[in-house]
Amino acid sequence: MIKLTINQQEITTQADPEMPLLWFLREEVQLTGTKFGCGQGLCGACTVLLDGKPIRSCLLPLAQAKGKSIETIENDNIPELQALQAAWLEHSVPQCGYCQSGQLMSATHLLQSNKAPDNDAIRSAMSGNICRCGTYERIAKGINQAALELAREI
Ligand code: FES
Ligand code: FES
Repeated sequence: MIKLTINQQEITTQADPEMPLLWFLREEVQLTGTKFGCGQGLCGACTVLLDGKPIRSCLLPLAQAKGKSIETIENDNIPELQALQAAWLEHSVPQCGYCQSGQLMSATHLLQSNKAPDNDAIRSAMSGNICRCGTYERIAKGINQAALELAREI
């Protein structure tokens, strides 16, 4: 039996402890916003937050999420994520969209740990998230915009 919290909701499961967290999210609890890209920890499409830190859910066995708190793109109670989503729309960031939930979760962690990231901080924080459509410039604009909006709300 494994207990974990997903988007503030406590869940108890008898699912295979070796199952990658990504499949548990997508197949067992129907949170399909988190995407499968490479399955090898290389692309960042499957990024979620585990106790506040971005991780590759394609690589993490469910057992290692036991007792932890997971946040996914479906969480609508994270101010940084909300501000980023609004900025993403304003700057038309997504193209095919496939990488974007991972991008948004990494960007959420960035803004939670650095309220005014400069270009280097953005580049470094986002370097593990690959976008085949090349939206990097708009992602950086979106992060800057969200940081400004969040600063205005304080
Ligand atoms: S699907 Fe997990 S890093 Fe690519
Ligand atoms: S928007 Fe298509 S892969 Fe990033």
